[in-house]
Amino acid sequence: MNDIMKELLDIAKQASKNAYAPYSNFKVGAAVRASSGAIYSACNVENSSYSLTLCAERNAIFQAISKGERIITEIAIYVDSDKLFPPCGACRQVMAEFASDLPIVYASHNEVLESKLSDLLPQSFLLKND
Ligand code: THU
Repeated sequence: MNDIMKELLDIAKQASKNAYAPYSNFKVGAAVRASSGAIYSACNVENSSYSLTLCAERNAIFQAISKGERIITEIAIYVDSDKLFPPCGACRQVMAEFASDLPIVYASHNEVLESKLSDLLPQSFLLKND
């Protein structure tokens, strides 16, 4: 893993500590670097109306976009679990909107995997041409 991924993973781990996950108790943190070089991080936020829950990955990406970023260059995801979990399909689709082929690191307590969005979401749906 390169230095930026190590840094992002550390930030994602910190972000997972703020997870609001009283229903699943599944705490996730995500950190993205954008093309400006700035780093944004977030946790998952659940709701009593379960379907309103926002995943950590989309939360982090939306924070970046809301600050004017349009391109995400890396993402790291940390789950507070013994088991490793790749990002959900909805988050993969949102990643595809803002990255051409995003390097992804996802980690649990004692496992880390490096991947790419093209492997996790081949033939993604995109209306934009650029
Ligand atoms: N969750 C994420 O934050 N990211 C994912 O990629 C999958 C799931 C959250 C949503 C919910 O708060 C909890 O994990 C259980 O699904």
